[in-house]
Formats: sequence, C-alpha cells, structure tokens
Amino acid sequence: MIGVSFMRPNPLLAVNQLKTYFYLDQKKIAKAVDGVSFTVQPGETVAIVGESGSGKSITALSIMKLIEKPGEIVEGTITLNQQDLTNLSAKQMTKLRGNEIAMVFQEPMTALNPVFTIGNQLTETLRKHRSMTKQEAQLEAINLLKTVGISRADEIIHEYPHQLSGGMRQRVMIAMAISCHPKLLIADEPTTALDVTIQAQILDLMVEMKEELDMALLLITHDLGIVSEYADRVLVMYGGQIVEEAPTRELLRTTKHPYTKGLLESLPNLKEDVDRLGTIKGTVPPAYDLPTGCRFYTRCPFAMEKCKHSNPDLIEITNNHVVRCYLYEKEEMQSVESNT
Ligand SMILES: Nc1ncnc2c1ncn2[C@@H]1O[C@H](COP(=O)(O)OP(=O)(O)OP(=O)(O)O)[C@@H](O)[C@H]1O
Ligand SMILES: [Mg+2]
Repeated sequence: MIGVSFMRPNPLLAVNQLKTYFYLDQKKIAKAVDGVSFTVQPGETVAIVGESGSGKSITALSIMKLIEKPGEIVEGTITLNQQDLTNLSAKQMTKLRGNEIAMVFQEPMTALNPVFTIGNQLTETLRKHRSMTKQEAQLEAINLLKTVGISRADEIIHEYPHQLSGGMRQRVMIAMAISCHPKLLIADEPTTALDVTIQAQILDLMVEMKEELDMALLLITHDLGIVSEYADRVLVMYGGQIVEEAPTRELLRTTKHPYTKGLLESLPNLKEDVDRLGTIKGTVPPAYDLPTGCRFYTRCPFAMEKCKHSNPDLIEITNNHVVRCYLYEKEEMQSVESNT
C-alpha cells in the first residue's frame, strides 16, 4: 500500500485523505492538514506527535468540525461509526459533539465559560444531551466531579472557573467531556499547561476514564515521553502530513523517519541505540510556504537530491509500519517481494 496510511477494518474513527486549508489571501493558502489518513479502533489510544505547527490541532478540530473561516475542509472524509461527518449539518454535528465525540483542550479557560459556575456548565450539558431534570443533573454533576477525583465536589459546583487551579480546571473539563459517555475522546495537549506531577495525574485519570467507559482516546502531544507511556499507536506529523505511523513499541524500537529520530533525540533516556543526530535545527515550515519536495528536506541530515524535488509517498515497510521517506524505498520493495 503506497500513499495512504493503514485503513483497518471496522474502525471507530476513519480519517481519509483529509485536507484542511486556510485561505489567507488570494495567493496565500495555508495547507495546515494536507492529505492525512488514519483510523482509531474502539478502545484504542492513538497519539499524534509533532512539533508546533505540524498540524495536530487542525486535524483534531477538523474531526470535531470546528474549523472556522478562512479555514475549510477541502477534501477527504471523516467517518465515526460508519457515519460520514463531512456531510452533517451544524445542528447534527452539535448533537454528535457531546454524545459521541468530546474534546479536551490545552487551556481549559478557553473552553469553560467564565461567567457560569462549574455546576451550571456541567448541568447544562447533562440536561441538553442526557435529558435530565435539574435535580438529576445536579446529582450527576457532583458524581462526575467525584469520578474525576474532585473531593470537594459539592462546593466546587458553586465556584467559577477562575477560582480553580489549572489541574482542577482540567479535571472539570474531563468531567464535562465524559459526561455523555462519548466513544471517542480527543485530548489536545491536555497537560502542557500543568506542572509535571499534575500532568501525570491528569493523564492517568484520562486512561482510567477511558477504560471505565470503554472510550477510544486520540491524544495529541509534542512529548514522546507521554506517547511511550500511554499510546498504543503513534502518528508522527510534519508539515501537515503523517511522516511515520506504527505501534508505539515498534516506532520507538525501529524508528525510521529522520524527523522521528530527531524527536527521540530530545529524550535521551527513552532510547539508547537511536542514531545520534543532535537536536533538529530549525522549525516546521509555515503551512503557507511548504517546500516543493520532502517537507522535512531543509532540516534533514540525510537529504538527497531527489528529496529536494519531490515529496515521498508513505511507504509500507512492514504490515504495521509506514514511513514517508526515500531512504526506505528499498525496504519497501523487499517487503513487497517477500509478500508475493
Ligand atoms: N486560523 C489559522 N489561520 C491560518 N493558519 C493557521 C490557522 N490555524 C492554524 N494555522 C496554521 O496551520 C498549521 C498547523 O497548525 P496547528 O495549530 O494544527 O499546529 P499544531 O501541530 O497543533 O501546533 P502546536 O503544537 O503549536 O499546538 C500552522 O502552520 C499554523 O500556522
Ligand atoms: Mg496545537
């Protein structure tokens, strides 16, 4: 299989050749997500990693259908439980967001409403999506807050978001996200704003909730340490595209893409035998000015002449590992030969 990522049978979520562009002006188009395909199986934890600007959040927001002008999903399909989200109306999508997919954002203050109490915000969701009475919703809100480890739940429901610490706010966001038992929880850098011990608590909480409610988790992070601990599978993004995808252990053990190797380099204890590259110099190219060839070309220590001129397709090197890099063309041919 060339050019596409794995499309496994009966996925919960299937993203196929997604392109989300921002039309900045007549000549300037930011290709924030440019042909991304992947699946998430029920109950699975899939991580998306990549540096700032690689297209992780826009992928997540596209799945939630929260892309605003001048941004637009220009191509591709997104299916959740066989239902094509790309054609849903805004109203249908609002219903689905709460019920079947929920998202936790990096900074909960942007998602919580500062003028309503925590209780108000939680009960509103419960009344809207689970048709509860005011009293039922109030009780359930307290239960949910306790579930996410907030012990003073009956006091907290009367407080406003600004009265809580960052970690507590993130717990409230998780309570809101899981309140309608979604099948898929998308967490976009849910812990970057928190200190390290709270980070671990929040991530552990999400995993606990995921298991209890049998949810799948799409975990967005730039931290490969988090990936190694929590994810079943990893998608590495660069310049709006997936450059490597594999099960977590496989990706860490037999890292292929020079970019992934560079990312691992910043975690000296995670992998001892990775080819030492030094930190990757430079930054992700802006989405409105991507190089014509391989998007990593300008930063790649192994760049060859052809990398400058054409962008490689995703190459399947084993049946669960794909990489977008000309260094592995031979490996692909061997694997094709050995399959026939
Ligand atoms: N509203 C917008 N208008 C124009 N360009 C945008 C917009 N939102 C995102 N982009 C561009 O799309 C690209 C991908 O952005 P995205 O927010 O998905 O990155 P990210 O991987 O989530 O980064 P970070 O780790 O910083 O959150 C970037 O080049 C960004 O500048
Ligand atoms: Mg982001």
